[in-house]
Amino acid sequence: MKEKMIEQTETFVKDKLKDDSSGHDWYHIYRVKKLALNIAEKEGADSFVCVMAALLHDIADEKIAGTEEEGLREVRNWLESIFVEEPYIKHILSIISSMSFKGGSGVEMESIEGKVVQDADRLDAIGAIGIGRTFAYSGAKGQLMYDPEIPVRETMTKEQYRNQKSTAINHFYEKLLKLKHGMNTPYAKKLANDRHAFLENFLEQFFEEWEGRK
Ligand code: ADP
Ligand code: NI
Repeated sequence: MKEKMIEQTETFVKDKLKDDSSGHDWYHIYRVKKLALNIAEKEGADSFVCVMAALLHDIADEKIAGTEEEGLREVRNWLESIFVEEPYIKHILSIISSMSFKGGSGVEMESIEGKVVQDADRLDAIGAIGIGRTFAYSGAKGQLMYDPEIPVRETMTKEQYRNQKSTAINHFYEKLLKLKHGMNTPYAKKLANDRHAFLENFLEQFFEEWEGRK
């Protein structure tokens, strides 16, 4: 029963995201789902809720839905249409409505399942995958990979985070290197430490090469 719901939801999400170019393509969802399942097993969280919230977490994003409210309504309609029980629907909706990073104003997750899915989403922004996504996003936005004359922004509003010109390398300092500190669960912290170290090694090599030293 639950397997079937997961399968149907995968098809639904794949179809919704097939034309996305905002960094929320299907394979981001695929990775977050895999990670969420792994972390859920280690942390003893409900794997059905984690997988469903992971699959649906970007559907209500403002970049995909018109507004967050419309997106959440769409998720509810979907879950009702495949007969997910009401307590699960409430839980899944509450997780995805508190998920987004939005320039720093993270909301504290109430349930262990929420913590797991948030960790999985954040992990996908760091490590080798995170580096790849950052350069892909920057290219799509027409940003340089690096410009020593554009300063790193220490504080920024949500508007500035979304709309001001930056660079791929600046994004490491404005977001990626901060994510390790926001991990909720012990297992995700462990994974984040390794991915964080990978980012630091990458930056070190990048700046050596930038100056022609390596
Ligand atoms: P979130 O799902 O956390 O809101 P975003 O939509 O902000 O993520 O970003 C999608 C992907 O693009 C992430 O890997 C993120 O790190 C990257 N990204 C977001 N903003 C920028 C930016 N200004 N420059 C480079 N990469 C970015
Ligand atoms: Ni995401």
